[in-house]
Amino acid sequence: MTRELRSFVAIGVSMLAACLSAPAVAKPTGYNLVCSNCHDGGAQPTVTVTAMPTTVAPGGVTTLTVSVTRTNGNRAGFFVTTRGKGEFQLVDAVGTRLIAASDEGPAGVTHTMPKTSTTGDNVFQVRWKAPAQMGSVDFDVYAVSATGKISPTTNMVFPEDDGMGHKRLGFSFGCAGSSFWPDTDGDGFGATDPDGPTQLCQQMKGFAVTSDDCNDGDAAINPKATEVCNQVDDDCDGKVDEDLPPVPLYKDTDNDGYGVPPAVMMGACGAINGFSPRIGDCNDNDRMIHPGVKETCNAVDDDCDGRLDNGVLPTCGVGWCARTSASCSASACIPGKPRPEVCNGFDDDCNGVVDDGAAICPAGQACVNAVCVGAGADAGTTPDTRPGVTGGATAGGCAIGDRPPVGRWVVPVVAAIVPLLARGWRRRRRSASRQA
Ligand code: HEC
Repeated sequence: MTRELRSFVAIGVSMLAACLSAPAVAKPTGYNLVCSNCHDGGAQPTVTVTAMPTTVAPGGVTTLTVSVTRTNGNRAGFFVTTRGKGEFQLVDAVGTRLIAASDEGPAGVTHTMPKTSTTGDNVFQVRWKAPAQMGSVDFDVYAVSATGKISPTTNMVFPEDDGMGHKRLGFSFGCAGSSFWPDTDGDGFGATDPDGPTQLCQQMKGFAVTSDDCNDGDAAINPKATEVCNQVDDDCDGKVDEDLPPVPLYKDTDNDGYGVPPAVMMGACGAINGFSPRIGDCNDNDRMIHPGVKETCNAVDDDCDGRLDNGVLPTCGVGWCARTSASCSASACIPGKPRPEVCNGFDDDCNGVVDDGAAICPAGQACVNAVCVGAGADAGTTPDTRPGVTGGATAGGCAIGDRPPVGRWVVPVVAAIVPLLARGWRRRRRSASRQA
């Protein structure tokens, strides 16, 4: 299915009704303009489109003739669209009808009844009036060659034996016009489009003269690009990383993308089985072990950072009592012993609450931001010398708490430093304004 066709979603039930000849069947509400969604079991007919005259002045009228080969049978239907450019006029008011644009598809012309021929192609005609401004247009024609066979049991035709063909005719009015291909990545090289080229008066942004870009989503890839060592065909010659100098590679026995020294100079830009351009594997016989792997609790250094089960060992306890288990078993985790709560920004008694309890500050003071403040208090600068404040956790395995709890010293230190900094800054500002 082409990009163009896919973007074309659906035309109304009205059009479905228009393309039906046999008695009504239960039909999907609204349907995709891609006729081959339903008419798909048979072969593709050849669709031919001609415009007469072959060129007109702006505002001029040309007549399109669409012929559809009788590939699957004697019946045929069609739909032609310019996606809104110009204006269609009916030639054969009985056999064809205009369709307005809707959110289900673009405006165009379709058959009212399928044509039936027993000799040559089925032929449809429609007139088209060019816009008043010079320009170009693509006529896109989708046509079905149908068997016309009717099921004796259901009394319906068999769309599944029919086939769809597509043809695009480029047409210009007021200019010579020529064909261009979509250049989405703007690298000056267009991509092939199965619907065919687009007719334009002159090249514009988003279009290129050639259709030889092998990746129109990446401006660094086109026929004039330089091949680089990246396992990609950068220059669109069908070869990947050809003619490039050897690169250092490392033996990667387990093929996990990480090898071990020493380096060996090899070609193919590193795309060699059993070798990798990266080092850092701490176990080259296990592809589940290499840098970047998520560490799991298994007594193994999975991510090759030199540490076993770091960050994934079970933990237990809260506050001061929080501990990490010595092994992957949660039952091996022993919480630390609680100690009396003091005003230090830390949960000493391991009840989940920081600095709670009545007796954590001298009478008349309150614990605010880890410091006892209130009547007579020298907030923030008096070192806390009360017993129980110093010391770290020693109980249990590798204790989280064997670093001293942060809140105990950070707050007084910050409280002491900030006024000093502020004073220095004010002084600098004053001298700066004196100089000015
Ligand atoms: C959603 C499915 C669907 C799509 C899409 C569809 N059709 Fe149909 N078409 C049918 C069905 C179903 C019938 C048979 C109806 C019946 O028997 O009542 C039919 C019948 C026809 C017939 C008559 C076949 C015959 O054997 O007599 C023609 C011609 C036709 N369609 C053309 C088209 C064209 C051209 C398109 C695209 C522009 C198209 N259809 C898109 C479902 C579809």
